[in-house]
Amino acid sequence: MLKMLSGSPLRSLNTAYSTNVEDKSTSSTTHFGSKTVLASEKEKLVGQVFSSVASKYDIMNDVMSMGVHRLWKDEFIRRLDAGARPGSRPLDFIDVAGGSGDIAFGLLDHAKAKFNDTKSTMTVVDINPDMLREGEKRCSENHYKNDPRIQFLVQNGEVLDKIEDNSKDVYTVSFGIRNFTNIQAGLNTAYRVLRPGGVIGVLEFSKVDNVIVDTFYQNWSKFLPIFGQAIANDYDSYQYLVESIQRFPKQEEFKGMIQKAGFYVPEPGYQNLTFGIAAIHIGIKL
Ligand SMILES: C[S@@+](CC[C@H](N)C(=O)[O-])C[C@H]1O[C@@H](n2cnc3c(N)ncnc32)[C@H](O)[C@@H]1O
Ligand SMILES: *[C@@H]1O[C@H](CO)[C@@H](O)[C@H](O)[C@H]1NC(C)=O
Ligand SMILES: *[C@@H]1O[C@H](CO)[C@@H](O)[C@H](O)[C@H]1NC(C)=O
Ligand SMILES: *[C@@H]1O[C@H](CO)[C@@H](O)[C@H](O)[C@H]1NC(C)=O
Ligand SMILES: *[C@@H]1O[C@H](CO)[C@@H](O)[C@H](O)[C@H]1NC(C)=O
Repeated sequence: MLKMLSGSPLRSLNTAYSTNVEDKSTSSTTHFGSKTVLASEKEKLVGQVFSSVASKYDIMNDVMSMGVHRLWKDEFIRRLDAGARPGSRPLDFIDVAGGSGDIAFGLLDHAKAKFNDTKSTMTVVDINPDMLREGEKRCSENHYKNDPRIQFLVQNGEVLDKIEDNSKDVYTVSFGIRNFTNIQAGLNTAYRVLRPGGVIGVLEFSKVDNVIVDTFYQNWSKFLPIFGQAIANDYDSYQYLVESIQRFPKQEEFKGMIQKAGFYVPEPGYQNLTFGIAAIHIGIKL
């Protein structure tokens, strides 16, 4: 546990850090130039890391989940094989609040590895153009460069006005729906854009299932904004992160909202991850 605490956020800081250095190599060399003043260098770099929204979200997910969100995402992607009814491939995927493209690339990689599926399409949607640009940038640097199957759209997940009714087979939203102003509207829209037989998968922070773990987690949450202030000079975002997680409905209640949107929810309706720190919800449009 402790190892994860210190390990993963740092690893991701370092990744984001080197990307930033490359990006700004010409304009910022003087700022990083001195190899002797490591501590102050690092401060500046951390500031820059957090100026990139995508890196910031990655780091916040890392910190809040103690690095485990990467494993949860892998599990989420595997669970969505539920969308792969025999003979139903290729599929049209939509990943909402997809920003950095983590889930989108992961789903396509998995489709290829497991089903030899290289024809499914992917629409990545995010309300924040900077976040979406980051996804496009990553796409232009990985093996999906120039792949016509992937498109990026700035869209509000509550509305998705550029997505036709009954046009998608799998709808995913990972650590994004908690930030929708109207979550039920988002779920209703997911129902609208899915074809009959289509699957919705939601991965989101949730409520902890175990008293001891919850005590630890609540304490952790209390200190999080203070850490946020110390490492990123950003109290408010971390405070917001904690509050938005606390505000998000309990597993049973969220399951009810998915049903209310019209989905059939196979029992037990959701899967708790790491004592319910996060949960995967699945629904099917019959
Ligand atoms: C924490 S990031 C999650 C990114 C990625 N899905 C992941 O799992 O790492 C939350 C994303 O939700 C997006 N978002 C928030 N509200 C949204 C909305 N109403 N419609 C679409 N995207 C939204 C934000 O712009 C941000 O990119
Ligand atoms: C995978 O699919 C391609 C066509 O999309 C086909 O040529 C190839 O034989 C398939 N490979 C396997 C192992 O099924
Ligand atoms: C969505 O997130 C932003 C910050 O990331 C915050 O300012 C805004 O209030 C959030 N909206 C909701 C409805 O949670
Ligand atoms: C998941 O966690 C919730 C909330 O902590 C708990 O009430 C529920 O029994 C757990 N459900 C499953 C299916 O494990
Ligand atoms: C959590 O904090 C409370 C006081 O706020 C303390 O009594 C308790 O021992 C702490 N628990 C853990 C697991 O850190």
